[in-house]
Amino acid sequence: MRIGLMGFGTVGSGVAHILHHYREDIAKQTGGDVHIARVLVRTLERPRGTLLDDAVWTTNADDIVAHPDIDLVIEVMGGLEETRALIERALRAGKPVVTANKDVVARYGAQLCAIALEHGCDLFYEASVAGGIPIIRALAHSYASDRITRLCGIVNGTTNYMLTRMAADGASYEAVLKEAQALGYAEADPSADVCGWDAARKMAILSTLAFHAEVQLDDVATEGIDRVTQADIAYGAKLGYTVKLLGTAARVGQRVTVSVQPTMVHHAHPLASVHGVFNAVYVYSEAIGAAMYVGAGAGSLPTAASVVADVIAAVRHNRLGVSGKTWSRELPLRTLLPEEEVRGKYFYLLSVADRVGVLAQITDLFARIGVSLQSVLQQSPQLDGPVDVILITHETHRAAHAQCLEALERLDAVEHVKSVYQVLDA
Ligand code: NAP
Ligand code: HSE
Repeated sequence: MRIGLMGFGTVGSGVAHILHHYREDIAKQTGGDVHIARVLVRTLERPRGTLLDDAVWTTNADDIVAHPDIDLVIEVMGGLEETRALIERALRAGKPVVTANKDVVARYGAQLCAIALEHGCDLFYEASVAGGIPIIRALAHSYASDRITRLCGIVNGTTNYMLTRMAADGASYEAVLKEAQALGYAEADPSADVCGWDAARKMAILSTLAFHAEVQLDDVATEGIDRVTQADIAYGAKLGYTVKLLGTAARVGQRVTVSVQPTMVHHAHPLASVHGVFNAVYVYSEAIGAAMYVGAGAGSLPTAASVVADVIAAVRHNRLGVSGKTWSRELPLRTLLPEEEVRGKYFYLLSVADRVGVLAQITDLFARIGVSLQSVLQQSPQLDGPVDVILITHETHRAAHAQCLEALERLDAVEHVKSVYQVLDA
């Protein structure tokens, strides 16, 4: 099996490492030798180590997607339109494709899977979500006999690494972002990580598989971690919560809702103990109940291991003559749960005037809208200054939460609403 590898950066070099070091094991599993025959890069000037022959390097994508000597294509170069077109060309030429590209899969996955099916070849994308965790196969195959009702996921390693370092060491946002970039976790444009778009792509992919619904990227209500402050982290900790960028997807009847937002996760919830670059997906299903899948969400070897596992699966399918028949299922049309019907608990950090009756006004406001409060914490006031008040609600509709927020912002005693978070309890 001659592989055309498109990209030789963090993930691509890891793929070459794994194919080289486990060559015999892989050959035993696939019944033949699997080796890299050609590698596409942007420039031939950069040193690339000694694992591969000089003859493999090219800057011309046709040497891979259109070349008869290439049997299978691995895409780990990133990018969107140009990359989608290359994947499509490879599939139309009958070459199975393995990709780690969540951008392409989230936007064009259904379309590319249909092309793969039509041409009798596989399109696999295990590494596109949660790096080294085999979550795509689990959702696609292991839940075939069950019904998934909800998913909660920490699916971006960069932001989890940043939030962990900010909480543990009080490190600054800018410093920890630089660290995550240096470690190879961040996207080429790290705003995809910190603004939540990378996590949104992954949640769209996961919820499409979990709910057999066509969840598109625009369906995912997305917020990043750029507004998370040290004060939020400290107040959260005081009340028993840790801040995580959480993807949440739920199925209510025949409708689905998917979001990505910074969330106060209670310390007793297993997701609160997922730190650093680790990712985790917490799956609730009718028969199995709750199950958590955890592991390295980014980085060279964990991601490359998922890519090579897909390669092995594709080679086996090829030998068995069943290529293109899995993961390419018909999806019903999506139906989104209306915004106002989504339920959740909320955390508010307010700066309020320190005078008699202010707390009563605030709690009265929540009571009038019909939102029940779980806890209220007031900080000791600074001399003559405003005081911080933290409120956590019981579960309520998002519409009621929006009403509370609007009313708080209009209340004289509230100088401003400093932060608002969704809350996940154990
Ligand atoms: P990277 O380190 O930036 O490497 C990209 C590689 O692709 C480089 O070798 C680059 O060539 C080549 N390349 C990029 N654009 C190209 C073009 N237009 N033509 C030819 N070659 C091109 O990226 P990465 O971190 O390995 O990520 C690759 C993909 O995996 C992305 O889709 C990413 O989202 C996904 N992913 C990454 C991780 C991770 O931990 N990094 C985890 C899961 C998924 P040069 O070397 O010549 O510049
Ligand atoms: N930038 C991504 C992350 C890479 O931090 O999770 C893995 O998809």
